[in-house]
Amino acid sequence: MNKNKKNILNVKGDFPILNNNKLVYLDSSATSLKPRSVINAVNSYNSKYSANVHRGIYEMSEKATLEYEKARKLIADFINAKEDEVVFVRNATEAINLIAYVWGEEKIRKGDNILTSIMEHHSNFIPWQELAKRKKAKFKVVDIKNGELDLKDFKKKFNSKTKLVAITHVSNVLGIINPIKKIIRLAHKKKALVLVDGAQAIPHLKVDIKDLDCDFYAFSGHKMLGPTGIGALWAKKEILNGMKPFLFGGSMIEKVTLETSTFNHAPEKFEAGTPDISGAIGLGEAVKYLSKIGMDKVELYEQEIRNYAYAKLSKIQGLTIYGPKNINKKCGVFAFNIKGIHPHDLATILDEEKVAVRAGHHCAMPLHTRLHQIASIRASFYIYNDKDDVDKLVKALKKAIKVFKNESL
Ligand code: ALA
Repeated sequence: MNKNKKNILNVKGDFPILNNNKLVYLDSSATSLKPRSVINAVNSYNSKYSANVHRGIYEMSEKATLEYEKARKLIADFINAKEDEVVFVRNATEAINLIAYVWGEEKIRKGDNILTSIMEHHSNFIPWQELAKRKKAKFKVVDIKNGELDLKDFKKKFNSKTKLVAITHVSNVLGIINPIKKIIRLAHKKKALVLVDGAQAIPHLKVDIKDLDCDFYAFSGHKMLGPTGIGALWAKKEILNGMKPFLFGGSMIEKVTLETSTFNHAPEKFEAGTPDISGAIGLGEAVKYLSKIGMDKVELYEQEIRNYAYAKLSKIQGLTIYGPKNINKKCGVFAFNIKGIHPHDLATILDEEKVAVRAGHHCAMPLHTRLHQIASIRASFYIYNDKDDVDKLVKALKKAIKVFKNESL
């Protein structure tokens, strides 16, 4: 794209929540808003063909199966993967737990090492901490330095006993985009597998699974314009085929007898019971929506908003942003604190100004402890935000500072 040409997406009108509403929604790292096309796709399933999938031999059920599998293909194409490597799950958390309970239970042995990082969301931290306890394995945590993953510490803690590296692609607090390609290359040299938590990356960056060459990639649909309750686990075919099922029941079987049962291939093997059909179809539509804009354009647009937000926020006195110094290394996620104001009080005042941000530890307690903070405020941007939203955030922050200054007089 011509760098001088303004990259304005102008998609606010596609999001019904933002129509006739003064809301400044800056909590997309928690969940994104849904465009009309996604809402319509979910409604259409529920109102026009709400049959079960992979079961009925009648038109409506066949349509449901077709749309469900079409969604899987859209998601696979979106990440440059094969359809049978995409397993529908509830969210990234479930995808990671599935790997911990199936692959981890079988492959992690006493004395093995599992390596993760201090910036992980709890969902890519606790499953491994618990697995290590069950298996008497070592749970090691890579530190951060200047708001980034400390690669020196990674190299120090990674060794021949490391069987798995579980790392986030983008931090939901620091916004840092981790050098996962490099980490995957280093890990594979010593035959360790790599699980990438892609929940905060896939809505914002072009993800090419083949190019990354990781072993597992987990993500949620609701952070990338899709419905809640649906997400995907991608894993290499040979790994999925070698894994036992997680949940047992309908749809995932090949043959069931009184004595024993055999199971379907992946991905069906991991999709026991009636899945979230409308959710999958909605996620397929979300992927269609993002693809139509183009992830390159999404990235460029968000960089512009990120740069603008950083320029404005960093001018506010007493405001500390957590993350890398070089903002080109991060997405449009700003976790910060203002000296002397509790983040929950700040969020309440922002809410009065119709600015929605998240306050708390953002499911990343070890990271906040490391930063010597109990909590922080987080403003996270997405394609429907614009510079006007940044200005409103800054105005509301300045108002809050004034309120607290007056109170402390
Ligand atoms: N993982 C989501 C967040 O960071 C909920 O806010």
